[in-house]
Amino acid sequence: MDKIIIEGDNPLSGSVAISGAKNAVLPIMAAALMGKERATITRVPDLRDTKTMIRLMEIIGAVCNYDNGILTVDGSMVDNPEAPYELVKTMRASFYVLGPLLARFGIVRVSLPGGCAWGPRPVDFHLKGLEKLGAKITLENGYIIARSDRLQGAEIQFEFPSVGATGNIVMAAATAVGTTIIRNAAREPEIIQLCDYLNQMGSNISGQGSTTITIDGVDSLVSADVAVIPDRIEAGTFLTAGALLGEITIKDVNPHHLDSLLIKLKETGCTISTTEDTVTISPADSIQAADITTAVYPGFPTDLQAQWIAFMTLAQGSSMVTDTVYHDRFSHIPELNRLGANIKVDQNTAFVRGVKNLVGAPVMSTDIRASASLIIGGLIAKGTTEVNRVYHIDRGYEQIEEKFSGLGAKIWRESA
Ligand code: EPZ
Repeated sequence: MDKIIIEGDNPLSGSVAISGAKNAVLPIMAAALMGKERATITRVPDLRDTKTMIRLMEIIGAVCNYDNGILTVDGSMVDNPEAPYELVKTMRASFYVLGPLLARFGIVRVSLPGGCAWGPRPVDFHLKGLEKLGAKITLENGYIIARSDRLQGAEIQFEFPSVGATGNIVMAAATAVGTTIIRNAAREPEIIQLCDYLNQMGSNISGQGSTTITIDGVDSLVSADVAVIPDRIEAGTFLTAGALLGEITIKDVNPHHLDSLLIKLKETGCTISTTEDTVTISPADSIQAADITTAVYPGFPTDLQAQWIAFMTLAQGSSMVTDTVYHDRFSHIPELNRLGANIKVDQNTAFVRGVKNLVGAPVMSTDIRASASLIIGGLIAKGTTEVNRVYHIDRGYEQIEEKFSGLGAKIWRESA
Protein backbone atom coordinates (compact mmCIF):
# COMPACT_ATOMS: atom_id res chain seq x y z
CA MET A 1 0.00 0.00 0.00
CA ASP A 2 1.33 3.44 -0.94
CA LYS A 3 2.14 6.07 1.65
CA ILE A 4 2.66 9.80 1.41
CA ILE A 5 5.73 11.38 3.01
CA ILE A 6 5.71 15.05 4.00
CA GLU A 7 8.56 17.24 5.26
CA GLY A 8 6.45 19.79 7.04
CA ASP A 9 6.56 23.47 7.94
CA ASN A 10 7.33 24.69 4.40
CA PRO A 11 5.42 27.73 3.13
CA LEU A 12 2.91 27.42 0.29
CA SER A 13 2.52 29.90 -2.57
CA GLY A 14 1.16 30.04 -6.09
CA SER A 15 -2.05 28.68 -7.58
CA VAL A 16 -3.70 25.30 -8.03
CA ALA A 17 -6.48 24.16 -10.38
CA ILE A 18 -9.40 22.40 -8.73
CA SER A 19 -10.80 19.25 -10.39
CA GLY A 20 -14.38 18.28 -11.18
CA ALA A 21 -16.51 17.29 -8.20
CA LYS A 22 -16.46 13.62 -7.15
CA ASN A 23 -19.88 13.97 -5.53
CA ALA A 24 -21.36 15.50 -8.70
CA VAL A 25 -19.87 13.12 -11.27
CA LEU A 26 -20.91 9.91 -9.49
CA PRO A 27 -24.69 10.57 -9.67
CA ILE A 28 -24.27 12.03 -13.18
CA MET A 29 -22.65 8.78 -14.29
CA ALA A 30 -25.57 6.84 -12.80
CA ALA A 31 -28.05 9.12 -14.61
CA ALA A 32 -26.23 8.46 -17.90
CA LEU A 33 -27.44 4.83 -17.58
CA MET A 34 -30.95 6.13 -18.34
CA GLY A 35 -29.90 7.26 -21.84
CA LYS A 36 -29.69 4.80 -24.71
CA GLU A 37 -27.19 6.70 -26.82
CA ARG A 38 -23.73 8.13 -26.08
CA ALA A 39 -23.03 10.77 -23.43
CA THR A 40 -19.81 12.75 -23.07
CA ILE A 41 -18.97 13.91 -19.53
CA THR A 42 -16.02 16.29 -19.14
CA ARG A 43 -13.99 17.51 -16.12
CA VAL A 44 -14.21 13.96 -14.74
CA PRO A 45 -11.54 13.67 -12.01
CA ASP A 46 -9.16 10.68 -12.11
CA LEU A 47 -10.09 9.08 -8.75
CA ARG A 48 -10.45 5.59 -7.34
CA ASP A 49 -14.16 6.28 -6.92
CA THR A 50 -14.69 7.36 -10.53
CA LYS A 51 -12.75 4.29 -11.69
CA THR A 52 -14.93 2.11 -9.44
CA MET A 53 -18.07 3.69 -10.89
CA ILE A 54 -16.80 3.08 -14.44
CA ARG A 55 -16.17 -0.60 -13.57
CA LEU A 56 -19.69 -0.86 -12.15
CA MET A 57 -21.23 0.74 -15.25
CA GLU A 58 -19.32 -1.68 -17.48
CA ILE A 59 -20.62 -4.63 -15.42
CA ILE A 60 -24.12 -3.21 -15.97
CA GLY A 61 -23.42 -3.17 -19.71
CA ALA A 62 -22.53 0.44 -20.50
CA VAL A 63 -19.59 0.95 -22.85
CA CYS A 64 -17.28 3.49 -21.20
CA ASN A 65 -14.11 5.22 -22.33
CA TYR A 66 -12.16 7.50 -19.99
CA ASP A 67 -9.18 9.54 -21.15
CA ASN A 68 -7.68 12.76 -19.87
CA GLY A 69 -10.74 13.86 -17.90
CA ILE A 70 -13.24 12.98 -20.62
CA LEU A 71 -15.65 10.06 -20.07
CA THR A 72 -17.92 8.76 -22.80
CA VAL A 73 -20.78 6.46 -21.81
CA ASP A 74 -22.74 4.45 -24.39
CA GLY A 75 -25.94 3.31 -22.71
CA SER A 76 -27.33 1.40 -25.70
CA MET A 77 -26.01 -1.97 -24.52
CA VAL A 78 -27.01 -1.65 -20.83
CA ASP A 79 -28.61 -5.02 -19.97
CA ASN A 80 -27.56 -6.14 -16.49
CA PRO A 81 -29.37 -4.20 -13.73
CA GLU A 82 -27.11 -5.37 -10.89
CA ALA A 83 -24.52 -3.77 -8.59
CA PRO A 84 -22.39 -6.56 -7.02
CA TYR A 85 -21.23 -6.66 -3.41
CA GLU A 86 -17.55 -6.61 -4.44
CA LEU A 87 -17.95 -3.07 -5.79
CA VAL A 88 -20.65 -1.65 -3.50
CA LYS A 89 -18.60 -2.58 -0.41
CA THR A 90 -15.78 -0.34 -1.68
CA MET A 91 -17.94 2.62 -2.58
CA ARG A 92 -21.33 3.47 -1.08
CA ALA A 93 -22.13 5.76 -4.01
CA SER A 94 -22.62 2.61 -6.14
CA PHE A 95 -26.09 2.74 -4.59
CA TYR A 96 -26.86 5.59 -6.98
CA VAL A 97 -27.57 3.05 -9.75
CA LEU A 98 -30.67 1.82 -7.90
CA GLY A 99 -33.05 4.55 -9.11
CA PRO A 100 -31.90 4.74 -12.73
CA LEU A 101 -31.86 0.96 -13.30
CA LEU A 102 -35.23 0.47 -11.63
CA ALA A 103 -36.68 3.19 -13.85
CA ARG A 104 -35.15 1.70 -17.00
CA PHE A 105 -35.63 -2.04 -16.36
CA GLY A 106 -38.41 -2.36 -13.77
CA ILE A 107 -36.11 -4.56 -11.68
CA VAL A 108 -32.73 -3.98 -10.09
CA ARG A 109 -30.46 -5.89 -7.68
CA VAL A 110 -28.04 -3.78 -5.64
CA SER A 111 -25.90 -4.99 -2.76
CA LEU A 112 -26.84 -3.28 0.49
CA PRO A 113 -23.93 -0.93 1.37
CA GLY A 114 -22.18 -1.76 4.60
CA GLY A 115 -20.95 0.83 7.05
CA CYS A 116 -17.87 2.92 6.54
CA ALA A 117 -14.86 3.92 8.62
CA TRP A 118 -16.92 6.09 10.92
CA GLY A 119 -20.03 4.03 11.37
CA PRO A 120 -23.31 2.79 9.85
CA ARG A 121 -24.66 4.61 6.84
CA PRO A 122 -28.24 3.40 6.29
CA VAL A 123 -30.22 3.68 3.06
CA ASP A 124 -33.72 3.60 4.54
CA PHE A 125 -34.66 7.00 3.05
CA HIS A 126 -33.78 5.72 -0.43
CA LEU A 127 -35.91 2.59 0.00
CA LYS A 128 -38.91 4.31 1.60
CA GLY A 129 -38.89 6.84 -1.23
CA LEU A 130 -38.88 4.13 -3.92
CA GLU A 131 -41.72 2.32 -2.14
CA LYS A 132 -43.72 5.58 -2.24
CA LEU A 133 -43.15 5.54 -6.01
CA GLY A 134 -44.69 2.05 -6.10
CA ALA A 135 -41.59 -0.16 -6.01
CA LYS A 136 -41.66 -3.51 -4.23
CA ILE A 137 -38.48 -3.85 -2.18
CA THR A 138 -37.07 -7.10 -0.76
CA LEU A 139 -33.76 -7.96 0.90
CA GLU A 140 -32.26 -11.25 -0.29
CA ASN A 141 -28.78 -12.47 0.74
CA GLY A 142 -27.55 -8.94 1.38
CA TYR A 143 -28.98 -7.59 -1.85
CA ILE A 144 -31.79 -5.08 -2.26
CA ILE A 145 -34.17 -6.26 -4.99
CA ALA A 146 -36.50 -3.52 -6.24
CA ARG A 147 -39.30 -4.27 -8.70
CA SER A 148 -41.88 -2.08 -10.44
CA ASP A 149 -43.62 -2.35 -13.79
CA ARG A 150 -43.93 1.43 -13.98
CA LEU A 151 -43.17 3.84 -11.16
CA GLN A 152 -45.95 6.23 -10.18
CA GLY A 153 -45.36 9.84 -9.11
CA ALA A 154 -45.91 10.52 -5.39
CA GLU A 155 -45.35 13.07 -2.62
CA ILE A 156 -42.25 12.18 -0.57
CA GLN A 157 -41.11 13.91 2.61
CA PHE A 158 -37.54 13.10 3.75
CA GLU A 159 -36.89 12.93 7.50
CA PHE A 160 -33.44 14.35 6.72
CA PRO A 161 -32.30 16.09 3.49
CA SER A 162 -30.19 13.14 2.37
CA VAL A 163 -27.98 13.89 -0.67
CA GLY A 164 -27.96 10.31 -1.93
CA ALA A 165 -31.62 9.64 -1.34
CA THR A 166 -32.59 12.89 -3.08
CA GLY A 167 -30.45 11.88 -6.07
CA ASN A 168 -31.84 8.36 -6.26
CA ILE A 169 -35.47 9.44 -6.02
CA VAL A 170 -35.08 12.26 -8.56
CA MET A 171 -33.61 9.79 -11.06
CA ALA A 172 -36.30 7.16 -10.39
CA ALA A 173 -39.10 9.76 -10.65
CA ALA A 174 -37.80 11.27 -13.91
CA THR A 175 -39.70 8.67 -16.01
CA ALA A 176 -42.45 7.79 -13.52
CA VAL A 177 -46.11 8.29 -14.49
CA GLY A 178 -47.27 11.63 -13.11
CA THR A 179 -45.71 14.14 -10.77
CA THR A 180 -43.38 13.54 -7.83
CA ILE A 181 -42.81 16.17 -5.16
CA ILE A 182 -39.84 15.71 -2.81
CA ARG A 183 -40.04 17.77 0.36
CA ASN A 184 -37.03 18.35 2.64
CA ALA A 185 -34.85 17.60 -0.39
CA ALA A 186 -31.06 18.07 -0.37
CA ARG A 187 -29.96 21.49 -1.70
CA GLU A 188 -26.29 20.64 -2.44
CA PRO A 189 -24.79 22.02 -5.70
CA GLU A 190 -24.15 18.42 -6.76
CA ILE A 191 -27.88 17.68 -6.62
CA ILE A 192 -28.65 20.89 -8.54
CA GLN A 193 -26.27 19.76 -11.30
CA LEU A 194 -27.81 16.25 -11.34
CA CYS A 195 -31.30 17.74 -11.82
CA ASP A 196 -30.04 20.14 -14.51
CA TYR A 197 -28.35 17.22 -16.27
CA LEU A 198 -31.54 15.14 -16.17
CA ASN A 199 -33.40 18.11 -17.69
CA GLN A 200 -30.81 18.18 -20.48
CA MET A 201 -31.72 14.49 -20.98
CA GLY A 202 -35.39 15.43 -21.38
CA SER A 203 -36.65 15.40 -17.78
CA ASN A 204 -39.02 18.00 -16.40
CA ILE A 205 -37.58 18.90 -12.98
CA SER A 206 -37.93 22.17 -11.08
CA GLY A 207 -37.10 23.49 -7.61
CA GLN A 208 -33.59 22.07 -7.48
CA GLY A 209 -31.53 24.04 -4.92
CA SER A 210 -34.61 24.53 -2.76
CA THR A 211 -36.04 22.12 -0.20
CA THR A 212 -38.88 21.14 -2.57
CA ILE A 213 -38.12 19.48 -5.90
CA THR A 214 -40.91 18.73 -8.38
CA ILE A 215 -40.46 16.08 -11.07
CA ASP A 216 -43.06 15.76 -13.84
CA GLY A 217 -42.44 12.28 -15.23
CA VAL A 218 -41.69 11.91 -18.95
CA ASP A 219 -41.78 8.78 -21.12
CA SER A 220 -38.09 8.45 -21.83
CA LEU A 221 -34.76 10.25 -21.68
CA VAL A 222 -32.04 10.85 -24.25
CA SER A 223 -28.29 10.93 -23.63
CA ALA A 224 -26.71 14.35 -23.08
CA ASP A 225 -23.25 15.86 -22.61
CA VAL A 226 -22.14 17.77 -19.49
CA ALA A 227 -19.11 19.40 -17.80
CA VAL A 228 -18.87 18.51 -14.10
CA ILE A 229 -18.96 21.39 -11.58
CA PRO A 230 -15.81 22.11 -9.53
CA ASP A 231 -15.15 20.10 -6.38
CA ARG A 232 -15.98 22.44 -3.50
CA ILE A 233 -14.55 20.01 -0.93
CA GLU A 234 -11.19 19.74 -2.70
CA ALA A 235 -11.27 23.55 -2.98
CA GLY A 236 -11.97 23.91 0.75
CA THR A 237 -9.18 21.48 1.59
CA PHE A 238 -6.60 23.59 -0.27
CA LEU A 239 -7.95 26.85 1.20
CA THR A 240 -7.58 25.42 4.71
CA ALA A 241 -3.96 24.51 3.96
CA GLY A 242 -3.37 28.02 2.58
CA ALA A 243 -4.85 29.52 5.76
CA LEU A 244 -2.00 27.85 7.61
CA LEU A 245 0.96 28.02 5.25
CA GLY A 246 0.87 30.91 2.82
CA GLU A 247 -0.98 32.90 0.20
CA ILE A 248 -2.41 30.63 -2.49
CA THR A 249 -5.04 30.93 -5.20
CA ILE A 250 -7.43 28.14 -6.13
CA LYS A 251 -8.65 28.25 -9.75
CA ASP A 252 -11.58 26.86 -11.74
CA VAL A 253 -13.91 27.08 -8.73
CA ASN A 254 -17.34 28.51 -7.98
CA PRO A 255 -16.71 30.76 -4.94
CA HIS A 256 -20.44 30.79 -4.08
CA HIS A 257 -20.27 27.06 -3.30
CA LEU A 258 -17.75 27.93 -0.56
CA ASP A 259 -19.63 30.74 1.21
CA SER A 260 -19.96 28.96 4.57
CA LEU A 261 -16.22 28.15 4.65
CA LEU A 262 -15.10 31.62 3.50
CA ILE A 263 -17.09 33.29 6.28
CA LYS A 264 -15.41 31.10 8.92
CA LEU A 265 -11.92 31.56 7.40
CA LYS A 266 -12.36 35.34 7.65
CA GLU A 267 -13.44 34.89 11.29
CA THR A 268 -10.03 33.33 12.02
CA GLY A 269 -8.28 36.41 10.59
CA CYS A 270 -7.51 35.19 7.07
CA THR A 271 -7.79 37.57 4.12
CA ILE A 272 -9.91 36.28 1.24
CA SER A 273 -10.40 37.72 -2.25
CA THR A 274 -12.51 36.18 -5.00
CA THR A 275 -13.11 36.54 -8.72
CA GLU A 276 -15.72 34.72 -10.80
CA ASP A 277 -13.74 31.46 -10.72
CA THR A 278 -10.89 31.90 -8.24
CA VAL A 279 -10.37 32.37 -4.51
CA THR A 280 -7.14 33.77 -3.02
CA ILE A 281 -6.39 33.28 0.66
CA SER A 282 -3.71 34.94 2.82
CA PRO A 283 -3.02 33.56 6.31
CA ALA A 284 -3.71 35.57 9.44
CA ASP A 285 -0.70 36.81 11.44
CA SER A 286 -2.23 34.94 14.34
CA ILE A 287 -4.98 32.34 13.81
CA GLN A 288 -8.07 33.09 15.93
CA ALA A 289 -9.99 29.98 17.02
CA ALA A 290 -13.47 29.68 15.47
CA ASP A 291 -16.20 27.19 16.39
CA ILE A 292 -17.88 25.15 13.67
CA THR A 293 -21.17 23.27 13.55
CA THR A 294 -21.59 21.30 10.36
CA ALA A 295 -24.92 21.31 8.55
CA VAL A 296 -26.44 20.35 5.23
CA TYR A 297 -25.86 22.79 2.38
CA PRO A 298 -25.58 25.77 2.49
CA GLY A 299 -24.22 25.15 6.02
CA PHE A 300 -20.61 24.26 6.81
CA PRO A 301 -19.98 20.91 5.07
CA THR A 302 -19.33 17.79 7.12
CA ASP A 303 -16.79 16.89 4.42
CA LEU A 304 -14.63 19.84 5.58
CA GLN A 305 -14.96 19.08 9.30
CA ALA A 306 -11.74 17.06 9.56
CA GLN A 307 -9.75 19.63 7.61
CA TRP A 308 -11.06 22.44 9.84
CA ILE A 309 -10.00 20.56 12.97
CA ALA A 310 -6.47 20.21 11.54
CA PHE A 311 -6.51 23.98 10.99
CA MET A 312 -7.66 24.71 14.55
CA THR A 313 -4.82 22.66 16.08
CA LEU A 314 -2.56 25.74 15.69
CA ALA A 315 -5.16 28.41 16.56
CA GLN A 316 -4.82 30.85 19.47
CA GLY A 317 -7.22 29.49 22.03
CA SER A 318 -9.73 26.65 21.90
CA SER A 319 -12.49 25.77 19.44
CA MET A 320 -15.48 23.44 19.38
CA VAL A 321 -16.29 21.49 16.21
CA THR A 322 -19.68 19.77 16.18
CA ASP A 323 -20.82 17.44 13.40
CA THR A 324 -24.62 17.30 13.13
CA VAL A 325 -24.60 15.22 9.92
CA TYR A 326 -22.42 12.31 11.09
CA HIS A 327 -22.19 12.12 14.87
CA ASP A 328 -19.18 9.80 14.89
CA ARG A 329 -16.99 11.15 12.09
CA PHE A 330 -13.89 11.65 14.25
CA SER A 331 -11.52 8.81 13.37
CA HIS A 332 -8.92 11.44 12.39
CA ILE A 333 -8.65 12.78 15.96
CA PRO A 334 -6.38 10.10 17.48
CA GLU A 335 -4.09 10.43 14.45
CA LEU A 336 -3.92 14.24 14.69
CA ASN A 337 -3.13 13.84 18.40
CA ARG A 338 -0.20 11.61 17.39
CA LEU A 339 1.16 14.75 15.67
CA GLY A 340 0.93 16.60 18.97
CA ALA A 341 -2.52 18.13 18.63
CA ASN A 342 -4.62 18.53 21.76
CA ILE A 343 -8.12 17.36 20.86
CA LYS A 344 -10.79 15.64 22.92
CA VAL A 345 -14.10 14.28 21.61
CA ASP A 346 -17.36 14.17 23.55
CA GLN A 347 -20.45 12.85 21.73
CA ASN A 348 -20.44 14.61 18.33
CA THR A 349 -18.20 17.51 19.35
CA ALA A 350 -14.41 17.81 19.17
CA PHE A 351 -12.75 20.24 21.61
CA VAL A 352 -9.53 21.54 20.03
CA ARG A 353 -7.02 23.35 22.23
CA GLY A 354 -4.51 25.24 20.05
CA VAL A 355 -0.86 24.24 20.45
CA LYS A 356 2.35 26.01 19.39
CA ASN A 357 3.27 23.48 16.72
CA LEU A 358 2.73 19.89 15.60
CA VAL A 359 5.57 17.37 15.24
CA GLY A 360 5.78 14.89 12.38
CA ALA A 361 5.01 11.19 12.95
CA PRO A 362 3.64 8.14 11.13
CA VAL A 363 -0.19 8.32 10.96
CA MET A 364 -2.96 6.18 9.52
CA SER A 365 -5.69 7.24 7.08
CA THR A 366 -9.17 5.92 7.78
CA ASP A 367 -11.39 7.69 5.20
CA ILE A 368 -11.15 10.25 2.42
CA ARG A 369 -11.49 13.44 4.45
CA ALA A 370 -9.63 12.14 7.50
CA SER A 371 -6.69 11.51 5.13
CA ALA A 372 -6.92 15.11 3.93
CA SER A 373 -6.76 16.37 7.51
CA LEU A 374 -3.66 14.24 8.15
CA ILE A 375 -1.96 15.64 5.06
CA ILE A 376 -2.72 19.16 6.31
CA GLY A 377 -1.36 18.10 9.71
CA GLY A 378 1.83 16.81 8.06
CA LEU A 379 2.23 20.00 6.05
CA ILE A 380 2.21 22.15 9.22
CA ALA A 381 4.14 19.74 11.49
CA LYS A 382 7.85 20.21 12.15
CA GLY A 383 9.73 17.22 10.80
CA THR A 384 8.60 14.28 8.71
CA THR A 385 5.11 12.78 8.59
CA GLU A 386 4.21 9.48 6.93
CA VAL A 387 0.53 9.13 5.98
CA ASN A 388 -0.30 5.44 5.51
CA ARG A 389 -3.16 3.77 3.60
CA VAL A 390 -3.39 6.62 1.12
CA TYR A 391 -5.77 4.60 -1.02
CA HIS A 392 -8.38 6.40 1.07
CA ILE A 393 -7.25 9.80 -0.19
CA ASP A 394 -6.96 8.55 -3.76
CA ARG A 395 -10.68 7.84 -3.62
CA GLY A 396 -11.47 11.55 -3.52
CA TYR A 397 -8.44 13.68 -4.47
CA GLU A 398 -6.80 13.83 -7.90
CA GLN A 399 -2.97 13.99 -7.75
CA ILE A 400 -3.00 15.56 -4.30
CA GLU A 401 0.75 15.31 -3.76
CA GLU A 402 1.49 16.79 -7.20
CA LYS A 403 -0.88 19.67 -6.51
CA PHE A 404 0.65 20.42 -3.10
CA SER A 405 4.19 20.05 -4.53
CA GLY A 406 3.22 22.64 -7.13
CA LEU A 407 2.45 25.00 -4.25
CA GLY A 408 5.91 24.47 -2.68
CA ALA A 409 5.21 21.62 -0.26
CA LYS A 410 7.82 18.91 0.24
CA ILE A 411 5.52 15.95 -0.29
CA TRP A 412 5.91 12.72 -2.25
CA ARG A 413 4.49 9.20 -2.56
CA GLU A 414 6.35 6.00 -1.75
CA SER A 415 5.20 2.50 -2.44
CA ALA A 416 5.19 0.65 0.83
C1 EPZ B 1 -23.05 12.28 0.43
O1 EPZ B 1 -23.15 11.03 1.06
C2 EPZ B 1 -21.58 12.46 0.09
N1 EPZ B 1 -21.14 11.39 -0.80
C3 EPZ B 1 -20.74 12.41 1.37
O2 EPZ B 1 -19.38 12.70 1.00
C4 EPZ B 1 -21.22 13.52 2.30
O3 EPZ B 1 -20.51 13.43 3.52
C5 EPZ B 1 -22.73 13.35 2.57
O4 EPZ B 1 -23.45 13.35 1.31
C6 EPZ B 1 -23.29 14.50 3.42
O5 EPZ B 1 -23.08 15.71 2.77
C7 EPZ B 1 -21.46 11.47 -2.12
O6 EPZ B 1 -22.11 12.41 -2.55
C8 EPZ B 1 -20.97 10.36 -3.00
P1 EPZ B 1 -26.53 11.56 3.10
P2 EPZ B 1 -24.62 10.39 1.34
O7 EPZ B 1 -27.47 10.55 2.56
O8 EPZ B 1 -25.53 10.73 0.22
C9 EPZ B 1 -28.29 9.64 7.09
C10 EPZ B 1 -17.07 12.34 0.86
O9 EPZ B 1 -16.19 12.44 1.72
N2 EPZ B 1 -29.06 8.78 6.18
O10 EPZ B 1 -26.78 13.02 2.84
O11 EPZ B 1 -24.43 8.97 1.70
C11 EPZ B 1 -26.80 9.34 7.03
O12 EPZ B 1 -26.46 8.29 7.91
C12 EPZ B 1 -18.39 11.68 1.19
O13 EPZ B 1 -16.98 12.81 -0.31
C13 EPZ B 1 -30.00 7.91 6.70
O14 EPZ B 1 -30.18 7.82 7.91
O15 EPZ B 1 -25.05 11.22 2.63
C14 EPZ B 1 -26.20 10.65 7.49
O16 EPZ B 1 -26.23 10.74 8.89
C15 EPZ B 1 -18.40 11.09 2.60
N3 EPZ B 1 -30.73 7.13 5.86
C16 EPZ B 1 -27.15 11.69 6.90
O17 EPZ B 1 -28.38 10.99 6.64
C17 EPZ B 1 -30.56 7.20 4.49
O18 EPZ B 1 -31.27 6.49 3.75
C18 EPZ B 1 -26.66 12.33 5.61
O19 EPZ B 1 -26.40 11.31 4.69
C19 EPZ B 1 -29.60 8.11 3.97
C20 EPZ B 1 -28.87 8.89 4.83
